[in-house]
Amino acid sequence: MKYEGKAKRVYATAEPGEYIVEYKDDATAFNAQKRGSWVGKGATNNAITAHLYPQLEAAGVPTHFVRRLSDTEQLVKAVTIVPVEVIVRNVAAGSFSKRLGIEEGTPLTHPVVEYCYKSDALGDPLINTDTALSLGWATEPQLLRIRELALKIRGFLTPYFEQRGVRLIDFKLEFGTLPDGTVVLADEISPDTCRFWDAQTNEKMDKDRFRRDLGGIEDAYAEMLRRVTTEV
Ligand SMILES: Nc1ncnc2c1ncn2[C@@H]1O[C@H](COP(=O)(O)OP(=O)(O)OP(=O)(O)O)[C@@H](O)[C@H]1O
Ligand SMILES: [Mg+2]
Repeated sequence: MKYEGKAKRVYATAEPGEYIVEYKDDATAFNAQKRGSWVGKGATNNAITAHLYPQLEAAGVPTHFVRRLSDTEQLVKAVTIVPVEVIVRNVAAGSFSKRLGIEEGTPLTHPVVEYCYKSDALGDPLINTDTALSLGWATEPQLLRIRELALKIRGFLTPYFEQRGVRLIDFKLEFGTLPDGTVVLADEISPDTCRFWDAQTNEKMDKDRFRRDLGGIEDAYAEMLRRVTTEV
């Protein structure tokens, strides 16, 4: 095992350029101060990510995804993770609403791309691209590419979910670099990392149900898997 995070484990393989990612049933929130788990969570997030990443590739977004190996495992390209969490927002929610005093659900007239330093010890503080550049976390071309890809991913995902009765409110991405410096989308896209609101009712269908003790978390994740895999 190379790394154990809160939601996944990363394993080396015989192939130096490839890792196995195992999705766990554990859920954490508020920087791991709140913990829980439910059966099937890992399989659901693995399936959702495995369904979306090949479609993102086809839409021109290079990703780390190679193939799904089992219910809870996928084979990925080993990357050096850029220690920056990239958040893309369509609608005000979460920390954006809190920080700026903007009511949750307020539509944003332009997509907002935010950057946070990936550091649990510091609580993932907000940064800008100058910070990432000046501390050597990524080069200028890599940072430009990350923003371009983040917006391309938004351009693919927003109508994808809309066609399936889901409002994509915001989402968090992680990028990595291959040995030649190429930027690829890594990590996962799932109800853990996105805010999904039902288009009819605005009901939350993501990890906020866990964060805010709304109940029905297992059903919400299962319903999101159903919607993601629905052909339209
Ligand atoms: N292709 C990849 N190559 C190397 N590391 C990866 C790859 N994809 C994801 N990772 C890293 O693997 C870890 C996945 O574990 P998990 O999502 O559980 O972490 P986490 O608890 O969110 O903690 P972290 O703050 O490290 O992201 C993350 O650190 C993520 O950045
Ligand atoms: Mg994570």
